[in-house]
This record gives sequence, structure tokens and C-alpha cells, in this order.
Amino acid sequence: MTHFLDIHKTDPSDLRQIIDQAAQMKAARTGRPKGAPDDTQPLAGRMVALIFEKPSTRTRVSFDVGVRQMGGETLVLSGKDMQLGHGETIADTARVMSRYVDLIMIRTFDETVLTEMSEYSDVPVINGLTDRTHPCQIMADILTYEEHRGPIKGKKVVWTGDGNNVCSSFLHAAGQFGFDLTFTGPAQLDPEEEFVGLARKAGSTITIERDAAKAVADADLVVADTWVSMHDSQSSKERRHNMLRPYQVNDALMAHAKPDALFMHCLPAHREEEVTSAVMDGPQSVIFDEAENRLHAQKAVMRWCLGV
Ligand code: CP
Ligand code: NVA
Repeated sequence: MTHFLDIHKTDPSDLRQIIDQAAQMKAARTGRPKGAPDDTQPLAGRMVALIFEKPSTRTRVSFDVGVRQMGGETLVLSGKDMQLGHGETIADTARVMSRYVDLIMIRTFDETVLTEMSEYSDVPVINGLTDRTHPCQIMADILTYEEHRGPIKGKKVVWTGDGNNVCSSFLHAAGQFGFDLTFTGPAQLDPEEEFVGLARKAGSTITIERDAAKAVADADLVVADTWVSMHDSQSSKERRHNMLRPYQVNDALMAHAKPDALFMHCLPAHREEEVTSAVMDGPQSVIFDEAENRLHAQKAVMRWCLGV
């Protein structure tokens, strides 16, 4: 079974194949209406379940549109409306869903839901974000970086703020795609040690630097994310904001990066908190390309999972 659970669990040559196919599929659609079918219909006759236990705009819409462009059909399900949210086990849900659909994408809280789903499912399972990782986002981000600047191998990526789920998938990608990553944020919100270790073992230079300006020096790519993720308690908001304020990405901070550095944010963003509007809407920002590329990258992920 070819699940797409995390970037570090996927072979580097498969990851490269997915990125290359995404770029090709994107190019083949140039100038077409969003709803126009792709030339080839690799998902014809396939049914894809999209399960959401957390809110979503990009993941939900990009998966749904992507499946339709490739000729498949979707079921968009809210976890709380399923028996899953009312005591049915994940294992039973996985076995039942596998009788109806060809592919499952799930966005959930605890990673164990995803892993248990993948263990009991007879069809491929895709990680649409957990509290711990967000691999589809980073596949889109790699595609975006390479579209603008060429190979990401050997580049310096700087993650600012909270060492959260999106940061974890960036660390996985650092190891698999061969780039270096500097984390700058407060010690309380450091990235997971296990993932830092994995990236280092794979040969990437992973640096922790508390001084944001020093961290960003010579960066090829600066990345920010929300200071309060969906799984964080709202009561932690003020404490987090106080800790994270020195790590806001603004013009002064971007000035330390290479002149041609890009800025990324997975969105949704909180303008004037983790990043200023001047940076978000400025010439170095590629945030809406990232959002678009969720569509193309995930289409290639789905084809890889299904072998079509
Ligand atoms: N970046 C991202 O996953 O966005 P959504 O939460 O809107 O899906
Ligand atoms: N870190 C954010 C990403 C949202 C796409 C969250 O988990 O809420």
C-alpha cells in the first residue's frame, strides 16, 4: 500500500518524481479554465474521501478540484459528522471506508489517528495535516521554490517562530531534498529534536539561532507560520505572542536575507503578527503560488499513491 504519510517516510526518488510530475501537469494546464479536465484522466472511475477533523480552505478545495481535474469524484466529510467522531474506532472506520473509496485523505489532530487509519485501510491514505506534520504543504513549497529559483538542494531555508507541524515537515524535506535549515524562535518552541536529528543524519546542516537577524543572514528562503496553530489552546495565545514577537518577518528582517530571497507562508496568515503585510504583499513573497501549488503537488501525490 502506497500511503503518503510523511516526507521522511517517502523515498527521495519518489519525492522527486512527484515534484517533477506536478510541474509537468501544471504546465499542461496553462491558460485553461480551472474546471477544465486534464488531457489524461488518471483518476477516472476513482472515488476519493476527504476527511476533515479541523478547518481548512486550501487543503479542502485543492484536493477536491485536483481530483475532479483528473476525472475522479470526491466525498468531503467532516469528522464530527461521521461515527468516527462519536466513538467508532479508527480501525473500523478505515476498513469500512476502504470498501467504498479508492483513496483517503485525512486532516486530523493526533498523528496516531493517521497511522492507525493507514494500518487498517486497504486503500492509500494521505496526510492532510496532523498536530505533528503537514507534508502536502511542503511538497507544494518545494515545487514553488524550484519554479522561482531552481533546485533547492544546498540552499539555506530559515524557519521563523514556532517549531510546529509545518516546520517539522520542512525538516523532513531538508533531509530528503538536501537543503539546510536554520530555526529561529524561542527555546520553548524549538522544533522536535527527533526531526532535527533525522535531518542532520541525512546530511543537512540544521542550526538553531535565537537571534532572528543573525538567523536570516544569507537566507535563500524565509518562512513564517501562524503563532497559534489549530491544535494549540487559545489560552496560550497571549504567552505565545509575547514569546514570538521578536521573530516577526518584516522588511527589516528580510533585509538580512539574500537580495533574491523568497518569502513563504502556508496560510492562513495573521497579518501584522507573524508577518507584516508589506512582506506578504511584497516582491519577495510567493505565498499565493504556494497556495496554487497545493493543487498541482497533491495531484501528483494522488497519482503516486494510486500508481496511475
Ligand atoms: N495551508 C493549509 O493547509 O491551509 P488550510 O488550513 O486552509 O487547508
Ligand atoms: N501550523 C498551522 C498550519 C495551518 C495550515 C496549524 O496547524 O494550524
